[in-house]
Amino acid sequence: MVYGNKSGSNGDWAVEAQGLVKTFGDNRAVDGVDLQVRTGSIYGVLGPNGAGKTTTIRMLATLLRPDAGSARIFGHDVVKESQIVRQLIGVTGQYASVDESLSATENLIIFSRLLGLGRAESRRKAEELLEEFGLTEAAKRPLKNFSGGMRRRLDLAASLIAQPPLIFLDEPTTGLDPRTRSQMWDTIRRLVKTGSTVLLTTQYLDEADQLADRIAVIDTGKVVAEGTVDELKASVGTSSLHLRLADLEDNNSARHIIEQVLGVPTKISSEAGKITAPMANADLVTDLLIALRTAGIHLSEMSVQKPTLDEVFLTITGEGVKEDASTTQASDDMYKAKEARA
Ligand SMILES: Nc1ncnc2c1ncn2[C@@H]1O[C@H](COP(=O)(O)OP(=O)(O)OP(=O)(O)O)[C@@H](O)[C@H]1O
Ligand SMILES: [Mg+2]
Repeated sequence: MVYGNKSGSNGDWAVEAQGLVKTFGDNRAVDGVDLQVRTGSIYGVLGPNGAGKTTTIRMLATLLRPDAGSARIFGHDVVKESQIVRQLIGVTGQYASVDESLSATENLIIFSRLLGLGRAESRRKAEELLEEFGLTEAAKRPLKNFSGGMRRRLDLAASLIAQPPLIFLDEPTTGLDPRTRSQMWDTIRRLVKTGSTVLLTTQYLDEADQLADRIAVIDTGKVVAEGTVDELKASVGTSSLHLRLADLEDNNSARHIIEQVLGVPTKISSEAGKITAPMANADLVTDLLIALRTAGIHLSEMSVQKPTLDEVFLTITGEGVKEDASTTQASDDMYKAKEARA
């Protein structure tokens, strides 16, 4: 690679961040974040609303100056060498940063032209990307008539015009329907196969699971866990138990029994009488059911599911995702609800 010599021994690392801090008023949105992303990998930053994911990405992408700490992109300091860094990265925002009154095609052509592509090449590139993201039908419509999912796809398409060595994707699939979501995953994998490094944020454990080589879990501005998907899963348990009691009065005794049998803290969901708990070993379900029956506790519903982000936090931090965490993005919550039902 051209900049290989210059980055010297740092050539292995696409991102090296140490002690990044960003404060807004008296809110330490990012509170000492360390990150190391290996060149050629997919790195996932997982966290609930307001955890500091976007703020971290904005600092790494030179869009926001850190209050403390430092970060290097392929060995180049994000503050002192921001011009070089900008040439090595692409950023896809959580919200489309494109012109509302223009069509999808026009927007992509403008981006291409800004990046120095010729007129014919820009048009060809725009058509190719619209096809890839399933937007060909909508290509001529002005953006203000696009759905949220269509905007998100267009936003990613725009950032792929010049495939940069490092691509930041801020919640690339939030709000997308399942089919588009898995298309997006394929695109992201292809980017990495063809030489890019990807740092993505997500609120979905399964997305990190599908894509990321390593994951950092962040909560209230701090990295609370870091490791490979397998390491993280091992700390969370491979599955999670969901059950509902026939009689709400049994709540406390049921939780006590579950905590004893499974050896983990339980959580009461906002839906009345629903108890969830991480589970390392699905075999323990038998023991648990026997213990509950012996205690005369009746269930109305029982299932074992893959762990949710909520349970990752429950296990790692000993507490659930903050209640106010879900107030900002109604459509995302609807999506998650749909997903949970599927
Ligand atoms: N420009 C800003 N001015 C003031 N506060 C901000 C600003 N940007 C972010 N914050 C605050 O910083 C904290 C972290 O926000 P951030 O957007 O980084 O979270 P996030 O993890 O990306 O959340 P989400 O999943 O909702 O996108 C939040 O409390 C947010 O309100
Ligand atoms: Mg964000």
